[in-house]
Amino acid sequence: MEVIIRKDADTGCLLGARIIARYVREKPNCVLGLATGRTPLRLYQELIRMHRDEGLDFSRVTTFNLDEYVGLPATHDQSYRYFMRENLFRHINIDPANTHIPDGTAADLHTECRAYEERIIAAGGIDLQLLGLGRNGHIGFNEPSGSLRSRTWIKILSEQTLQDNSDVFGSRSAMPRHAITMGIGTILDARRCLLLAFGPPKARAVERMIEGPLAAICPASALQLHPRATVVVDEASGSALQFSDHYRWIDANKLPWQRYD
Ligand code: F6R
Repeated sequence: MEVIIRKDADTGCLLGARIIARYVREKPNCVLGLATGRTPLRLYQELIRMHRDEGLDFSRVTTFNLDEYVGLPATHDQSYRYFMRENLFRHINIDPANTHIPDGTAADLHTECRAYEERIIAAGGIDLQLLGLGRNGHIGFNEPSGSLRSRTWIKILSEQTLQDNSDVFGSRSAMPRHAITMGIGTILDARRCLLLAFGPPKARAVERMIEGPLAAICPASALQLHPRATVVVDEASGSALQFSDHYRWIDANKLPWQRYD
């Protein structure tokens, strides 16, 4: 696991955007896995800026989002389809037909989950998967104790996740309790993973993901198995790491082609 510590969320997001932009430039028809939530917002703003000011071209890019709430139509302002349209897709030159998000309103959710996996395979697999981190160690909506080999499926959201995400719904009872999410196995199949986690509330989960044992109780620890996982944290979210000097040493001694900035 490549661990990069930056001063704050802003510089961490700019770095994440550079990593994605480099990928898009090198492989214009790449398949990106995307995330929603507060963490990647600044990264998306930077990708939009790069598209506008530097001509970063998304016309041949395909995307697959990690997850979607069950029961929310694309028109609902808290659906992840709505989020992606408002915060990224409508500001860049991506073909909407190439953007994929699980359909949480499908009549047959099991079929939708299997079809989502098939769509990823038909697209050639995910080249780079962007991830955020839940305070409880979840990635996608893979909550603690779920299988580390799971595939896209319907998951029950934990109480912690309801607590963390319900403010935007107005109340906990208004927030869906179920979501379709790529499984941990699906995420690990991506050729590259890029996880961002910032701020003091993420410190414990960051420490368990990077330095804790590989354990289903911290789903993000599965990234320890990934051959090419990059984790970008800030001083605050990295504050509980025991080996931060080691990560900084590695970062400072990278070969020129291993650097992102
Ligand atoms: C979002 C997702 C979640 C979030 C995580 C962190 O698509 O899959 O795992 O990345 O809950 O959320 P924020 O960024 O809001 O702290």
